[in-house]
Amino acid sequence: MTNMRFRELYIPAIVFTIAVALTSVTAQSRGTAAHSLTVGEGFVDPIGFYDRSPVFSWKLPASVKKQTAYRIEVSGDKSWDSGWVESDRSSFVPYDGKPFASRDRGEWRVRFRDEKGKDSGWSEPAHFELGLLSVADWSAKWIRPSQEIPSEGEPAAWLRRGFNVDKKIASARVYVTARGLFELHLNGIRVGNDHFANGLTSYTKRLDTLTYDVTGMFRDGGNKIEAMLGMGWYAGRFPFARRKGYYGTNPELLVQLEITNADGSRETIVSNEQWEATFDGPVISSSIYDGESCDARKEITGWKPVLANSDLGAAELTPKPFAPVREKERLAVQSITEPEPGRFVFDLGQNMVGWARIRIPAEKDKTVTLRFAEMLNANGTLYTENYRSAKSTDTYTSATTGTIEWEPHFTFHGFRYVELSGLPAGAKPQKDWVTGVVLHSDLHAIGSFESSHEKLNRLQSNIVWGQRGNFVDIPTDCPQRDERLGWTGDAQVFGPTAMFNYDSHAFWKSWLASMRVDQLPDGQIPSVIPESMRNAGSPGWMDAATIIPWTVYVRTGDESVLADNFAMMEKLVGWYRSQSVDGLTPNTKGYGDWLQPYPKAVKTADDSNADRRGDTPRSLLGTAFYAHSAQILADSARVLKRDAEAKRYGDEAAFVKQAFFKNYFDASGKLQNAPETQTAYVLAIAFDLIPNDVKEKAFANLVRLIGEADGHLRTGFLGTPHIVKVLDDMGRPDLAYDLLFKETYPSWFYSINQGATTMWERWNSYSRDKGFGDASMNSFNHYAYGAIGQWMYERVAGLAPDPAVPGYKHFFVRPLIGSQLTSARAELETPYGKALSSWVMKNGKVTINVVVPPNTTATIEFPDKRPPQTVGAGKYSFRVNRG
Ligand code: BGC
Repeated sequence: MTNMRFRELYIPAIVFTIAVALTSVTAQSRGTAAHSLTVGEGFVDPIGFYDRSPVFSWKLPASVKKQTAYRIEVSGDKSWDSGWVESDRSSFVPYDGKPFASRDRGEWRVRFRDEKGKDSGWSEPAHFELGLLSVADWSAKWIRPSQEIPSEGEPAAWLRRGFNVDKKIASARVYVTARGLFELHLNGIRVGNDHFANGLTSYTKRLDTLTYDVTGMFRDGGNKIEAMLGMGWYAGRFPFARRKGYYGTNPELLVQLEITNADGSRETIVSNEQWEATFDGPVISSSIYDGESCDARKEITGWKPVLANSDLGAAELTPKPFAPVREKERLAVQSITEPEPGRFVFDLGQNMVGWARIRIPAEKDKTVTLRFAEMLNANGTLYTENYRSAKSTDTYTSATTGTIEWEPHFTFHGFRYVELSGLPAGAKPQKDWVTGVVLHSDLHAIGSFESSHEKLNRLQSNIVWGQRGNFVDIPTDCPQRDERLGWTGDAQVFGPTAMFNYDSHAFWKSWLASMRVDQLPDGQIPSVIPESMRNAGSPGWMDAATIIPWTVYVRTGDESVLADNFAMMEKLVGWYRSQSVDGLTPNTKGYGDWLQPYPKAVKTADDSNADRRGDTPRSLLGTAFYAHSAQILADSARVLKRDAEAKRYGDEAAFVKQAFFKNYFDASGKLQNAPETQTAYVLAIAFDLIPNDVKEKAFANLVRLIGEADGHLRTGFLGTPHIVKVLDDMGRPDLAYDLLFKETYPSWFYSINQGATTMWERWNSYSRDKGFGDASMNSFNHYAYGAIGQWMYERVAGLAPDPAVPGYKHFFVRPLIGSQLTSARAELETPYGKALSSWVMKNGKVTINVVVPPNTTATIEFPDKRPPQTVGAGKYSFRVNRG
């Protein structure tokens, strides 16, 4: 009997299993189909997508060496079949059907033939849905409270309206943006999990809109849509210690809720006169720089009809083309101290950016104050001088006695330490009272670097933390003081490293879009993007306009980044030309080789930054970057097959290089007409500004200068990113390693020896023997010197892109065995899949392991004398001599 029942139950189970197995045997489950389908710059099934003619990318299964043909099929609101196309291209393949319209949905799939001509079968489908692509799609109006903004602080506004739902809803989308920062709620539930939306763009010219799927968030009958609106970068205090309202004085909201009912009818709820608003609520103030104050006792009261404006303004309204800021990680408290009575300092063990979430006992009517700091004073109290005018202080006044939980909305801090004061008398703080909430643009980590050297690994970690903390919607110089701006020079030097650590393709493209609209009519690029300083003209900063597009192109293979920015590059080079006399740029101004250690230059009455600009003349830097940008422009023209421009700008670059060489070098390769600096030699070699036969001699002079500096750097923001690579490329990898492993000031390990957990603005922002550097400019989270990360990936571990075959379609494996290292390893998720270069040395023998993704090739350069070897997709292991 028992057996019988077992059989009865057992047999149908087998049948069921087989049936499932049979129906799901697709190309995908066999692992033969393409996978990881994305549109645009790596978007997985996006809604609110921005591009009416998307580009498609996919990855091939590991067993495939090469794609020989593909076929894409698109269905949905538009349909298109590419037919079989003989091509090995598997990323950024353009759609060639009728352009999609706002709200359209598309489904697509792809199949390919491999190197044996075998058809893979169809992939699983992927989807995309467009957002609202133009101003004409909006029937919403800009709304804001009709009340005066209270003059104190930066209060948040609340806006709301009720509406009825009486049909079954099939789908619903909300499209939303703000002049300011918003958080949206539907029936009391937060819509999405984004922070600081809509982000920081050149608001008066370009506003990002967000799209959310809110289908499941309604109830029958009365529904409520509410928004909280912060002043943010738009209307709050920004930048520096200046007054509020750089972009506009009144924060405003634009929202459009579109409902499709099950019966096919549609309803739209938009921001308009039917809304009401108030400033009278618990968030008394919330400021990017100064922190947030919450009085939980306050109800939201004083509702009044809003002011509504149907003029949507001149700014382009387009779907946000990259991921918003989100909570990415939580850090736990490591230790608690009480350096002053009643002030408890929680140490998170890591300098980070975001805010503190607190869960603490509170007393009714009492205010708890949270202060933040990146470093501590010798007596254990917070060191906050380097925040300058940014108050970075949160307060919470409790409505009840008991445990409260709270975090802010529209502010962020750069900190490792959180100080709580105002706790109930006798409270014994616990570690779980404070959590460090790490916020940054929600980019995917794609790379990792590891080695046998603890400090080098710490350096990698510090670089990654520097990137997290400064990729808060735009690439910033620093995340903590009253600055936090999109400094172009810093971004330009850090770009390649950033692209190893995180998939920042879309992030850079969006920021470049702000750069394009902010370029000055004469071609200059503002020093910060979005422009907010009315300052431009600095060589090495402005050239972000050429260098970043090129960086992104080389590392992704996406030609559109060159096409989109070509006109901007041309205008910049045109500006240099307009400044030039016989190819030289004698009158260039700017930041020089910013923060060069031991400058000879001293502050003067009319230039308080003279000592910060270093000793390399700005006229020399101007000509060097003019030549470099012209060269990139010529190279970009060649890629875009704009032959006439390629020739013209190539000639221009050659002419400027010649002028540079003639003016600044004598035939013996020694610098003339300018003081000898490491940076002048480094840039002359790195940018190929001097003839090959002179290079060796110039290099000998650089080596001499390094020797005179006792083997140390004397380079600032512009020279440092290149010096190690130049030493290596010119045949002195030993000196390159010496600089990297240097322990004394100025060097990468020097800051680590002083306790750094992020990159610092200055090598000695703090030192154990001398204490803190000049607080007027002393960031402990400044990624510029993190640019060394590129060389760590490309040479120490040995995984480098090939600019001639971009996007890692072909790449180099060229590990540099040496110095104190016994192993190193870099892994990168390329557009084709995972690539790896790792090496381990044991008993004088080196094992090199390599992974080459499907549809790519790699050339391996060995440390011993054997010739380089080019291999196709696969896994390889080589045993070689140390060399
Ligand atoms: C920023 C830098 C920036 C520099 C310009 C500083 O205030 O923090 O990183 O590049 O100014 O010289």
